[in-house]
Amino acid sequence: MAFLPLRLGVNIDHVATVRNARGGSVPDPCRAAIEAIAAGADGITAHLREDRRHIRDADMEAIRKAIGKPLNFEMAATEEMLAIAIRTQPHAACLVPEKRSERTTEGGLDVVGGHDQVKAATHRLKSAGIRVSLFIEPSLAAIDAAVSIGAPVVELHTGAWAEAFAAGDDVAADMEFARIRAAAAYAHQNEIECHAGHGLNYQTARLIAAVPQIAELNIGHFIIGEAIFLGLAAAVKNMRLAMNEGRAGA
Ligand code: PXP
Repeated sequence: MAFLPLRLGVNIDHVATVRNARGGSVPDPCRAAIEAIAAGADGITAHLREDRRHIRDADMEAIRKAIGKPLNFEMAATEEMLAIAIRTQPHAACLVPEKRSERTTEGGLDVVGGHDQVKAATHRLKSAGIRVSLFIEPSLAAIDAAVSIGAPVVELHTGAWAEAFAAGDDVAADMEFARIRAAAAYAHQNEIECHAGHGLNYQTARLIAAVPQIAELNIGHFIIGEAIFLGLAAAVKNMRLAMNEGRAGA
């Protein structure tokens, strides 16, 4: 198939994590969003968690107003978050599962068991003009559920693959990557736009960029970590380069 353009969404949550460690106002996630866009990011992703451990309500508002490119509002499908998203009017909302005890989003949304709740949230966001994506495990059953829910976009959770890759477990990494490839092809077949993210670095971004049906990667922790050493603009540019190389070499 023809390759779709591959967008980079930069997740700036952990700029807020560093800010909150001291309780002041720096580093400012909104400044990071502006710099990431200037360096070539196609959009900004931020997760307003129920416990506000990193991004806060005012950050979402400020980022939404400051950037000319899409804001992807990651959120749990709760009444509180639905109200905030509908008020903030981001370009997109990505529904994710949320547990207070987790360090990061550990698994995909339970779109089979939680079908009706996710469907209701999806419809409310869609009626407010917000494009909805569901953060799911790379499984065909999850994509079938996304079709039935009426979600126009899915984001495949790449965490299990990224972890197996980092551990040097080639068998598990190959198996996880095959699941991602199959899920991306199946999503495309079902006319659902396919995104991917979680735990990606330069190497894994280069590899996954070769999957033609994937239209967007959302990457946070690694880019913000690299920014400590290189600066945010250079980290974003390097990631863009890795993605371009992966797409071109496919
Ligand atoms: N996509 C989603 C839906 C996420 O929840 C996260 C983590 O907040 C990411 C992408 C980015 O993951 P990472 O920070 O590991 O790059």
